[in-house]
Amino acid sequence: MINKNWWEKEVIYQIYPKSFKDSNNDGIGDIQGIREKLPYLKELGITTVWICPIFTSPMVDNGYDISDFEGINPEFGTMADFDQLLKDANKLGIKVILDLVINHTSDEHPWFQEALKDKESPYREYYIFKEGKTEPNNWRSIFGGSVWEKLPNEDTYYFHAFDKKQPDLNWENPKLRQEIYGMINRWLEKGIAGFRIDSITFIKKDQDFSSLPADGVDGLASCKSKTRNRPGIERFLNELKEETFEKYNCVTVGEAPGVPYEEYGDFIGDGGYFSMIFDFNYSDIDVESGSDWFKRTNWTTKEFKEKLKRSQEVLQANGWGANFIENHDQPRAVSKFIKPEFQTNEAAQAIGMLYFFLRGTPFIYQAQELGMQNAERKIIDQFNDISSIDNYYRSIQEGFTPEEALGFVNQRSRDNTRTPFPWDASQYGGFSDTTPWLSMTEEYPNRNAQSNPVLAHYKQMIALRQHGAVSDVLTNGTIVFLDNVPDNVIAYKRVLKDRVVYCYTNLSDTEELVSLDAGSIDLFLNSHDDLVSETNDVKLHPYQSILFKKINEVNGNGN
Ligand code: NOJ
Ligand code: CA
Repeated sequence: MINKNWWEKEVIYQIYPKSFKDSNNDGIGDIQGIREKLPYLKELGITTVWICPIFTSPMVDNGYDISDFEGINPEFGTMADFDQLLKDANKLGIKVILDLVINHTSDEHPWFQEALKDKESPYREYYIFKEGKTEPNNWRSIFGGSVWEKLPNEDTYYFHAFDKKQPDLNWENPKLRQEIYGMINRWLEKGIAGFRIDSITFIKKDQDFSSLPADGVDGLASCKSKTRNRPGIERFLNELKEETFEKYNCVTVGEAPGVPYEEYGDFIGDGGYFSMIFDFNYSDIDVESGSDWFKRTNWTTKEFKEKLKRSQEVLQANGWGANFIENHDQPRAVSKFIKPEFQTNEAAQAIGMLYFFLRGTPFIYQAQELGMQNAERKIIDQFNDISSIDNYYRSIQEGFTPEEALGFVNQRSRDNTRTPFPWDASQYGGFSDTTPWLSMTEEYPNRNAQSNPVLAHYKQMIALRQHGAVSDVLTNGTIVFLDNVPDNVIAYKRVLKDRVVYCYTNLSDTEELVSLDAGSIDLFLNSHDDLVSETNDVKLHPYQSILFKKINEVNGNGN
């Protein structure tokens, strides 16, 4: 029997191909590099890989600017390389999902090039062009500046929610939509297991294209309120699902920012557009908005806990979630969630446990399993990521000093997680024999994939969820957050019939006393070497996490 929700059992590993492993020593990671490292992934225990875009692209946004959806970027290899990778991965029991970027293309895509050549070209309808002598409105793009770019020899502008080299596709055009569906189905026919779907809530724009009150000194206003999850998107998303995904037993992971919790039922669960979605509400705890890094928050563990709890409750009520603490757009979790003097291996393990045993499919971003930290850069020229460069100059424009601006960017830069994977302590970390496209994190001689305790801990976490005595509880169990704990402790239980597993994490730099209300416990995993007990209580070290069951507990007791 085909298991419809097979993806609930997966542990998904995210690969940023440019930085994973360089097989031909040109300084750029590639498909054969991924293939070479399949045994590492197998041993880690993950069951699916999500590979960030590998398609033909000028790489302005590292592949999120596609110029041929069905070609492989020569930097990464060939279609034959990909076929080989898919076959070898599947042989090892590892499924492959790809990144589906269908809100925009590169401006070098032949459709856009055709549209530029001729005003009457049908490809003009594939994108969003508006005639006029000035920008049609004051919307700011996600990567800064106006969403409108003027054509050189015409009083015409085209729309881009992201970079100007990423023109948005016109989803209002049925012909364009059919082209996209055909492309998706051809990839699924190849035998990939599904897609992570990029910026999908941006495909519908408010058709009035009216200006907004400015929200920055640039006189512009974030385009999000007019271009993200707008009314009418349901028609596009339903059609997308019906014409493609639904015909296959595939997994779809929606990158769906901007969806209010009341609407999660449309996006996930039976009849939802996707198998699961990422929720950014708790991962963006350190900033007011994921695209304005100078708007930092002074978040507390209590607030984080409340956000996480709400997120899990909403995901549970509506369907299934994609749990993560890192990705290629986020800083390293250790640097974000743990105070500077406490960024130890144990703390990296604790933050790992905190999210890994939540209800949903856990995602691990490459080298997260090594306990990596952010890379400190001294000048803006050391950054590659376009949004880092935009945030730097916009912070200065907003009145911050260059030092402050650099500080914001160092904390939030997408380059933090894009550094080459440190396989060992040799020069360039065994990633390549030559200078990599982006410099390594300085810590690599001491922190790499060789004899790394955090890595060993991640293997244990994965094994526990996949094959341990309580793996069914950790996968299928419901989640209940526990309220009778100190503010700094995040505790939840996973419950499956009469079996209960607890995860307690002290997300703070002080010791915390918690009452487990239990005689004795069976400890499955501990981020630290010891667990200090005091009569009925345990004293958790700063950033300590424990996963356990209570001996002889019957469900309903011991909350
Ligand atoms: C979200 C992706 O995760 C990010 O890396 C990219 O820059 C934008 N979408 C635009 O495609
Ligand atoms: Ca290479």
